[in-house]
Amino acid sequence: MMHRSPGGPGLLRRALLAGTAGVLAAAGLAGAAGTADAASTLGASAAAKGRYFGTAVAAGHLGESAYASTLDTEFTAVTPENEMKWDAVEATRNSFNFASADQIVAHAQGKNMKVRGHTLVWHSQLPGWVGGLSAIDLRTAMNNHITQVMTHYKGKIYAWDVVNEAYQDGSSGARRSSPFQDKLGDGYIEEAFRTARSVDPNAKLCYNDYNTDGQNAKSNAVYAMVKDFKQRGVPIDCVGFQSHFNSASPVPSDYRANLQRFADLGVDVQITELDIEGSGSAQATSYTNVVNACLAVTRCTGITVWGITDKYSWRSSGTPLLFDGNYGKKAAYTAVLSALGGSGSGGGGGGTASCTAAYSLTQSWNGGFNGQVTVTAGSAAITGWTVTVTVTPPQKVSATWNGTPSWDSSGNVMTMKPNGNGNLAAGASTSFGFTVTSNGTTTAPKVGSCTAS
Ligand code: XIL
Repeated sequence: MMHRSPGGPGLLRRALLAGTAGVLAAAGLAGAAGTADAASTLGASAAAKGRYFGTAVAAGHLGESAYASTLDTEFTAVTPENEMKWDAVEATRNSFNFASADQIVAHAQGKNMKVRGHTLVWHSQLPGWVGGLSAIDLRTAMNNHITQVMTHYKGKIYAWDVVNEAYQDGSSGARRSSPFQDKLGDGYIEEAFRTARSVDPNAKLCYNDYNTDGQNAKSNAVYAMVKDFKQRGVPIDCVGFQSHFNSASPVPSDYRANLQRFADLGVDVQITELDIEGSGSAQATSYTNVVNACLAVTRCTGITVWGITDKYSWRSSGTPLLFDGNYGKKAAYTAVLSALGGSGSGGGGGGTASCTAAYSLTQSWNGGFNGQVTVTAGSAAITGWTVTVTVTPPQKVSATWNGTPSWDSSGNVMTMKPNGNGNLAAGASTSFGFTVTSNGTTTAPKVGSCTAS
């Protein structure tokens, strides 16, 4: 395994060590700068990619310490799961109750988390009184609702889902029936966005929907609406893709392309309610695909999962989240962290295989020195690596360890590959070493770039 260097430092040579090391250091050790430590939480890893990583939060669970600590450790954004919905804040006309939503917003602000406001105009979780109004009254009530809620949270919300789920599923591309659609007609969405902009001009205004994650009749209809809004100057800043997936509704193969076409209209895109039913590596792979799609779209500003732990998921039986019922990190968690470039182990399949090689001098003596090369995988797991080390004649490499070397005809260029298993998790490192016999030359070896497979 390890071949001892033939000329290790003897006691009499001690005095020379510092001097020789100094010469080598001054010669500039190729790649000596290490790779920055990979972030080890979802939020920090996403932040390193310029994005937030959020979760839906229920006010009723904030008192559970494991819930709160997982939230605070891993996430940089929150969406109240139900607390800002119409039935929660205005169950009775013009009587507003913000207590539960305020709890979430206060918690988030205390931790510097973004808040996504969810949602102002939606056919569901809508109190019965709204459906009973005449058209004129409904218009007033809708605008009043938007105004009161957005005023209460003015300056505290990163993005609002102004209108949620306004389109039908299936091939029609038609609007969904709702009190708003049925009484106010197509124009209610535009009106809601205009009112929203007038109340809090600093909040991003989003349209949010599900089954719009790939290109289909429904997403085409939303696309046409957003395009029209942008052309006519109707204020819209973002489109939310709920991304509730399971085996019947898997991550679409054109997910990234769909996000990109919306982004190309001049809006941000966000993944707003991500959950993927399943378990193990299949679930992990789907999560990886979603993260990679967002990372590939510059205007994809963040990802929100629809809950922290499987036990509180709205689809609990499908175990669709990143933490199990005991807040244990699932394979899906590791995959997401890894895809975000974090320091999780395992989780393969995400991103492009890459690696870096960094040289350091570990020992020197009169007549030779030992070098070490640390190989670090990039944002995806790798299964192998290749690094070249070139020494300056008449130097010779006289021993190596933790690698399998091969040589060019000159004997100066050593190509090092793993000893057996070359697997490295995303962000993980290994190292190999070698002894150089100086033969009068103390020049540091040149370490070439790392090639991953
Ligand atoms: C869900 C919540 O998670 C549940 O607790 C609630 O009972 C129903 O609503 N689309 C949305 C979310 O926009 O608001 C929904 O949240 C899930 C589907």
